Amino acid sequence: MTDRKKITLPYLYKKYQDGEPIVMLTCYDYPTAYLQEQAGVEMILVGDSLGMTMLGYETTLPVTMEDMIRHCKGVRTGAPTAWLIGDMPYMSYQPSVETAIRNAGRFMAEAACDAIKLEGGREMADRMAAIVAAGIPAMGHLGLTPQSMSALGGFKVQGRGAAQAKRIVEDARILEEAGAFSILLEMVPDRVCKVITERAGIPIISLGSGPHASGQLLIYHDMFGLYPRFQPKMAKVYGNAGEVILNGLKQYTSEVIGRQFPQPENWFTMKDEAYDELLKLLEAED
Ligand code: KIV
Repeated sequence: MTDRKKITLPYLYKKYQDGEPIVMLTCYDYPTAYLQEQAGVEMILVGDSLGMTMLGYETTLPVTMEDMIRHCKGVRTGAPTAWLIGDMPYMSYQPSVETAIRNAGRFMAEAACDAIKLEGGREMADRMAAIVAAGIPAMGHLGLTPQSMSALGGFKVQGRGAAQAKRIVEDARILEEAGAFSILLEMVPDRVCKVITERAGIPIISLGSGPHASGQLLIYHDMFGLYPRFQPKMAKVYGNAGEVILNGLKQYTSEVIGRQFPQPENWFTMKDEAYDELLKLLEAED
């Protein structure tokens, strides 16, 4: 573990006010959370993208609250000091304000999250306000919102046209007024992100939306070549762990088949006396 103090909302706001970039990543499991904590990642999002990265679904839509809580618990154990954000899965907040508050509360009570995130603009302002009124910090998510992929027409940059960009700028203001502590902008043009950041009084986090934000987010699996289906343009690859793991797996397979694995250092022995006694015991029984 590190000797880092618990990341708090005042800490994040201080960084924001000082113009210091906030470091954010997605994470879905204990060993990765452990490494992210060591590396100094400040905000961790247990995204419902785990449906795709961890469970192999085509979209995030089948992800349940139970999936989210289980993964959040593992991440919290590995990253005890990070500001942990649980991503509200599809239909855990859309049906009603009450559903939204109850499910947001589950992230806090059952998985020790610090905050939740939900997708959507003005149409989700009442959910945002109610969750915040219940004492739960909430992050907004605008631009490409994967739970609405079908309505948005696919995995596309949002807000390239002036009218759509204006709507996103307005939505950001509405979410801030509803009490969001921060807003994530996914795949909007850099200048739209800049306009929103300049107008906002809360940290704006960019995922593929350029440098003019209060912090940056990447999807962990994209950074290390761990998602086999596609590699989004916005993802910088920091190392090809997928290739390293694949090579290791191929070597293991061939060593088992070729009887090169295991070697003596990979197994356990017993003393001769104990073994002789075992043989005697077995003989006596036969
Ligand atoms: O689920 C997720 O990881 C997300 C990111 C795409 C922002 O919501």
